[in-house]
Amino acid sequence: MIWYGGDYNPEQWPEEVWAEDARLMQEAGVNLVSVGIFSWAMLEPREGEFDFGWLDRVMDGLHAAGVRVDLATATASPPPWLTHRYPEVLPVTKDGVRLSAGSRQQYCPSSPVYRRLAARLASKLAERYADHPALAMWHINNEYGCHVSHCYCETSADAFRAWLEARYGTVDALNAAWGTAFWSQRYAEFAEVQPPRATPTFTNPGQLLDFDRFSADQLLELYRAEAAIVRAATPSLPVTTNFMGFFKGADYWAWAQEVDVVSDDSYPDPADPVSPAYAAMTRDLMRSLRHGQPWILMEQAPSAVNWRARNAPKAPGQMAAWSKQAVARGADGILFFQWRQSVAGAEKFHSGMVPHAGTDTRVWREITELGADLAGLAEIEGSRVEARVAIVFEWDSWWSLEQEAVPARLSYLEHAFAWYTPLFERNVVADFVRADADLSGYDVVIVPSLFCASEASLDNLAAYADGGGHLVVTFQTGIVDEAMHITSDGYLGSLQATLGVRVEEFAPLAPPDLRREGTGTPPTVALEGELAGTGTLWSEHVRVSDADVLSVFGSGDLAGGAAITRRLNAWYVATLPDRTLTGELLDDVLASADVATDPAGTVERVQRGRYRFAIDHGSQTVSIDDRAN
Ligand code: GAL
Ligand code: ZN
Repeated sequence: MIWYGGDYNPEQWPEEVWAEDARLMQEAGVNLVSVGIFSWAMLEPREGEFDFGWLDRVMDGLHAAGVRVDLATATASPPPWLTHRYPEVLPVTKDGVRLSAGSRQQYCPSSPVYRRLAARLASKLAERYADHPALAMWHINNEYGCHVSHCYCETSADAFRAWLEARYGTVDALNAAWGTAFWSQRYAEFAEVQPPRATPTFTNPGQLLDFDRFSADQLLELYRAEAAIVRAATPSLPVTTNFMGFFKGADYWAWAQEVDVVSDDSYPDPADPVSPAYAAMTRDLMRSLRHGQPWILMEQAPSAVNWRARNAPKAPGQMAAWSKQAVARGADGILFFQWRQSVAGAEKFHSGMVPHAGTDTRVWREITELGADLAGLAEIEGSRVEARVAIVFEWDSWWSLEQEAVPARLSYLEHAFAWYTPLFERNVVADFVRADADLSGYDVVIVPSLFCASEASLDNLAAYADGGGHLVVTFQTGIVDEAMHITSDGYLGSLQATLGVRVEEFAPLAPPDLRREGTGTPPTVALEGELAGTGTLWSEHVRVSDADVLSVFGSGDLAGGAAITRRLNAWYVATLPDRTLTGELLDDVLASADVATDPAGTVERVQRGRYRFAIDHGSQTVSIDDRAN
C-alpha cells in the first residue's frame, strides 16, 4: 500500500467539519494523516494542564473512517504561556537579537526548559495514544531547524563549550585544531570560547565549522530525546521526522540513522523550469539516506505555496507528475501540507487538498484522481530503485566551502546540481553517498567539490578508482581536512596519484548562480582540445604528472594548462564545463563504465522494481513508446 494523505489540523475548524473531513478523506483515498504538529497550545493550554479530549475525538473519528494517524509529538511551536513564563527559551541570532513569540519554532535548541517541557508533552501523548488503533507512526516535532538552526544565546554558548570539551578533551587540542596561533586567538580555558557571534571580520574557520556541527547535533539531540520516549511506549511503530531536502542546517546522513523511515517535505517552484530536475535530485537523496529503503514524501503543496514572492499554482497534472516522480524514485507515501486550506493564520493562502473554493474544483479532482491512481500502484510498496551512479555529498564540505574566507564564493549545492542535471537529462538515476561509504556497488562515482575531506575519505575514493571504478573528481576537492587544515603538497591527498595531477594555484572565475544559467553573463574561459566548450566558475593551475589532457584552458594566464584530464578511469575537472560539455564528458564516462543513457527530452524515465515510470514534465502532448531498456 502507498500512504496517501496530508497534515491534518482539525483544531482550526469547528467539530462539525470533522465528519465532513472524514467523508472527504474516504472519497480521496486518504489513508494516513499527520495530526497534532502545531497543537501544543491546544493540548497543554496552561503549564501542566492537559486537554486530550478533542484529540481523542479526532483519533476515534479517523479510526472509524479507516484513516491511520502519523501522530506528532506537537513540540514544534511552544505556546505563548511557555515563552511568557520562560523568556530565556527564545532563541538569539548571531547579531544578538532575541526572537519573539507570535510565529513558530521560537525555541533555543539547547534550552533545558524547552527540552523538559517538550519531553513531558511527548510522554503524555505516548502514554495516551500508544494503544490507539489509528496510530500508525510517530512524527517527531516538525522540520527541525527550518527557521532556527543556530542559536547564539548564553545557554547555547554553554552547551557549545561542553560540546567542544567532549570533542577535544583539552583546550590545547582545541587550539591546535582551530589554528588559534593566528590572530592571537589562543584560548587558555574552554570558558573563554564563544559561539561565532558577529565579529569585526572573519571568524575563526574551525570555530565556524564546529558551531555548524554543534548546532546540527543539538537539533538531533532534541529529536533523539522525543524519539526515545515514543519508542519506549510503542516499540514496534516507526518513528520519523520530516526532512527538508538539501537542508544545510542538518547533516541528514547522521539523522537518517536515527529515524525508522526517512520522510521529506518538498516544495519546488511550479514556475521554475529546473524544478523537475531539482526535485528528482532531492528524491534521490532521500532514497539514498537509508541506502535505498523506501521513504515518504511527507509534505508537498497541492498547488501554490504562500511564501514565495510570486506563488504560482501547479499546472494541471503537475502535482500528479511530481508525486509519481517521488514514487518512481522510491517513495512509499505521498502526503500534502495540508488537508483543508486554512481561513485564518499565516498560511491561509497556501493551497490545501480541500481548497477554499470547495470540492467542485480542479485541485480536488486531481487529489481524488491521484488517490485512486496510487491505490492501483499498491504492490510497488517496498520495491527498490537500482542506481549505478553515485554522487558524493557531505555536509562538512557544504559548511566549510561556503565560509567567507575561502578562495571564492561557491555554492556547494549548485555545483552538485550542475553535475546531477546532465544525468537527469539522460535518465540516469543517481544515488548520493558519503565519501567514506562502500562504493563497490557503483560503476561511476562523481565528486563535486568535496572541499573538506579526511585522509581516509580521499583514500577510499582513490581505492575505488584504483580498483576499477569510474571516478570523476572536480575542483576544490580535498582542499582541507576535518579541522579545516590544508591538505598539503598540492591538495587532493592520495587522489593525486590516482588522478595523476596536483593543483598548484587557484584562479576562480566568478560567483555562481548556476540554476539561473543565461540570466547573467558570468565570466567564462574557453576550453580547447578533445573536449571543447567553455568553463565557468573556476580555473586553476593543474600540474599533470601522469594523465591524458582532454581539454586545456584556451585563454588567459592559464592558456594551454590542463582543464580536464583522464588517467585510466579517473577524471579530474578543473572548471565547471558548460552544460553541453559536462554532458559530453559524462557520456564518455558512462560509456566507458557501460551505463546506458536515454536522452530525456521532457520525459523522465525511472525503473522501480518491475515498474517503468515515464513522466512527462512538458506542456505538449507526447507519445511514450514502450521501450524495453
Ligand atoms: C513546511 C512546514 C509546514 C508548512 C509548509 C508550507 O515547511 O512543515 O508546516 O508551513 O511548509 O509550505
Ligand atoms: Zn540558545
